[in-house]
Amino acid sequence: MSTHNVWTHKGTFLLAAVGSAVGLGNLWRFPYLAGENGGGAFILIYALTIFAVGIPILIAETMLGRASRRSPIMGMQFLTRTHKTSRAWVSIGWMGAAAAFLILSFYSVIAGWALHYTWLMLTGTLVGADAATIASGFDALLASPGLLTLYHTLFIIASGVIVGMGIHKGIESGLRIMMPALFVILLVVLAYGIANGDFAAAASFLFTFNLGDLSLEGWLEAMGQSFFTLSLGMGAIMAYGAYMASDASLSRTAFAVAFVDTAVAMVAGLAIFSLVFGAGLDAAAGPGLMFVTLPLAFAEMPFGGLIGGVFFILVLGAAISSSISLIEPVAAFLVERFDLTRPQAVFAMVVASWALGLLTVVSFNLWAEASLFHTLFGRSAFDLIELLTNILMPLGGLLIALFAGWALTQSEVMKEMRTSEAWFQVWRFLVRFVAPAAVAFVFLRTIPLVEGYLLPAIGALIIVGAFAAGRTMLAGSGQAQ
Ligand code: PFF
Repeated sequence: MSTHNVWTHKGTFLLAAVGSAVGLGNLWRFPYLAGENGGGAFILIYALTIFAVGIPILIAETMLGRASRRSPIMGMQFLTRTHKTSRAWVSIGWMGAAAAFLILSFYSVIAGWALHYTWLMLTGTLVGADAATIASGFDALLASPGLLTLYHTLFIIASGVIVGMGIHKGIESGLRIMMPALFVILLVVLAYGIANGDFAAAASFLFTFNLGDLSLEGWLEAMGQSFFTLSLGMGAIMAYGAYMASDASLSRTAFAVAFVDTAVAMVAGLAIFSLVFGAGLDAAAGPGLMFVTLPLAFAEMPFGGLIGGVFFILVLGAAISSSISLIEPVAAFLVERFDLTRPQAVFAMVVASWALGLLTVVSFNLWAEASLFHTLFGRSAFDLIELLTNILMPLGGLLIALFAGWALTQSEVMKEMRTSEAWFQVWRFLVRFVAPAAVAFVFLRTIPLVEGYLLPAIGALIIVGAFAAGRTMLAGSGQAQ
């Protein structure tokens, strides 16, 4: 059964996709990764990947959603049937659902930290506090399974309620209020950073491109981040694409999403590093950059409590507009496949993901080290879940690029893209060859044992495999191209 739901306005897909893309990835992960990896060099690779690989895959993923008008799993079943390709391609849908479920479980826990800091900031608890106090406060939060579970629960319930209310009354209306507010807040925080921090130092840190600063690890990290930040390869964009108006332009929308997402990451980076450098703090603080370094900068500045509170509200809003896009693909599938009502479907997804999130919660305290989990898997549950999603997202992106690049016919793609033959040719080259090659390398990052000459060798193998898969699909669908 197809849902045949369509967003209320032509531009709503753009709003929804930007809502999904802009999140903890931009405000929390991007700045600390850039900080750890030498700033400008990291950003160069990140931006190149977004434009050469991210945008083509974004177009491909949206196209698969709109061409099928179904949730990702049902949509891929439909497309493999109508294009006479192997049923194995339905794995795009299943892997996406698995990735959404896994990401939501830890995303909600981390968004919960922002809830805690919103509270601390607005109540002025941290005003004037010193570095040791703030650092030990963060450690105390992580050490408390009760508090972490409380915030995780509140955040995931809020996300579930929005999706449960439906794509129009819940998701659309929610985004229409949240997104403009987020942009205003971001600009306020930037202005505050410029007024009170060291903007020049931030700009030179972020925009001095010295590729020599970048390790191979940093290079791959930048590519992985561009997938995460655009919500690619896991069905969220496909699910939203299924509701996209037929006459909305795919290419223009994809460019706009990538542009806004990148701009938000840059503005957030400029604002955060202005404050961090202004307070004479370290840019390479890692994941604690937003929760330890930044609160310290706010603690020392005029109106820091208020602006800090507003900043963490921004983080929360951005996180929730992303987490709803993690729930939607799975909930829509449960509705289509098992005839559940939307609230039932959302409930099932949220409860399961919430329960899995408890593993992330205990990763920071009860099972932090020396637990059975560590002995069995060599890392914490949080690290394991993140590793799994780091594999699933690029892999999903790779398969999406291949399927859209090889299985869909030229006329079909031209009808969806409504662009010139020349841009079509560029796009198809990018999804058939460039994106798979780039993804092959991102993918390798997640295989900890790969080193030296093995890296290019495995990359080459994946490219050859991808090419073979493409030829088989062409033969299967009997296309003459
Ligand atoms: N793009 C989101 C962010 O940058 O925070 C994270 C995300 C949301 C990833 C939805 C994947 C997804 F499907």
